[in-house]
Amino acid sequence: MLDVARIRRRFPALAVGGPDGRAAVRADAPGGTQVVDTAIAAMADRLRQGTANQHGPFPTSRETDALCDRVRHQAARFLGSSPEGVVFGQNMTTLTFHVARALEDRFGAGDEIVCTRLDHDANVAPWLGLAERTGATVRWVDMDSDSGLLDLGSLDAAISERTRLVAFPAASNALGTLVDPAPFVAAARAVGALTYLDAVHAAPHVPLDRRAAGVDLLVCSPYKFFGPHAGILAADPDVLAGLRPDRVRPGPDHGPERWQTGTANFEAIAGIGGALSYLEEVGLAAIREHEIALSRRFLDGLDGMGHVRLYGPREPKRRTPTFAVTLEERTPKAVAGELARAGIHVWDGHYYAIEPMRALGLLDRGGAVRIGFAHYHGPEDIDRVLRALADLSPRSAGGGCLEQRDIR
Ligand SMILES: Cc1ncc(COP(=O)(O)O)c(C=O)c1O
Repeated sequence: MLDVARIRRRFPALAVGGPDGRAAVRADAPGGTQVVDTAIAAMADRLRQGTANQHGPFPTSRETDALCDRVRHQAARFLGSSPEGVVFGQNMTTLTFHVARALEDRFGAGDEIVCTRLDHDANVAPWLGLAERTGATVRWVDMDSDSGLLDLGSLDAAISERTRLVAFPAASNALGTLVDPAPFVAAARAVGALTYLDAVHAAPHVPLDRRAAGVDLLVCSPYKFFGPHAGILAADPDVLAGLRPDRVRPGPDHGPERWQTGTANFEAIAGIGGALSYLEEVGLAAIREHEIALSRRFLDGLDGMGHVRLYGPREPKRRTPTFAVTLEERTPKAVAGELARAGIHVWDGHYYAIEPMRALGLLDRGGAVRIGFAHYHGPEDIDRVLRALADLSPRSAGGGCLEQRDIR
């Protein structure tokens, strides 16, 4: 496993104590990870040293050009893409709406878009909107609610000669399910459709390689992988060149900057560079191995807890260390509140993954509790969460029953 003590020293926020003086277990990582020191330093340095807009003749402007170029290359390496196709944006959602808008003149009545029931709504709503505006139809790939895996039989059924776009996730932010892109890419290619991969949840957990996967457009968000709040689109440059994004007339008219509306967030781009340097240092392969061990420990610990129900794959290799659970006799909101009191930060609800939550029958029942670890967690964090869950058993001495109003 990774040297967690050494890793944690790189994340200043992890040392901050809670009300009881103990550092919290920040198991809210799928909603945004803590930021690594190199990203913080890069952003602060950028602002301290003085900033300037791009494409000027003076040194500070040239430095901004060099920064964007350098980080674009780093992002390309991280995502297995080419720098000419790396676009920086505000976040994944905004980039995806932007791409959907740019695709509009390619779609018409009778065309089809394939979406999945495992996706975050940011990889669904933009396509529903595109369909609505152009008269296209959305077809769905279903999720098997027992395993939390996508049903590939329904992928075959959803694809037709009219499919123009296949949108799918690299991993589910709700259940942690990992998705093999191969069948989606093969199905899309067979009918000449574009592929759009939401890698937001996967990016801090598994190595990504857009080109090797054969995906046309991939999106991710650096605030989920130890950097600042921003978004990245990594696309095949030829695909980008063939589309017409909304843009101001005097803006760059070629290359990835053609896609960047207005002035970019240069301090965030500096921070992305810092986060990516850190990831190059630690390596996603080592992170993956560490997280598989964390998942195994957590899943083994859950085994003895009859009052905890886990959704999604049980096999550590098929998932990220993000776990959706519900507890007997307590609402997800009540559980998240209890865990917060125990110094454990988790989200409850649907986390915008409304399709999987609906498929599981949880959407109108408060969703689930999402316990999300990252590589900066160690076995003691897992054990602390497991102990807190055990204490919430209706049968445990400390686990009192809920007030009636909390039971749904
Ligand atoms: C899987 C997934 N896709 C998309 C998004 C949206 O990302 P952003 O906040 O960068 O728009 C999230 C955010 O939680 C996510 O987890």
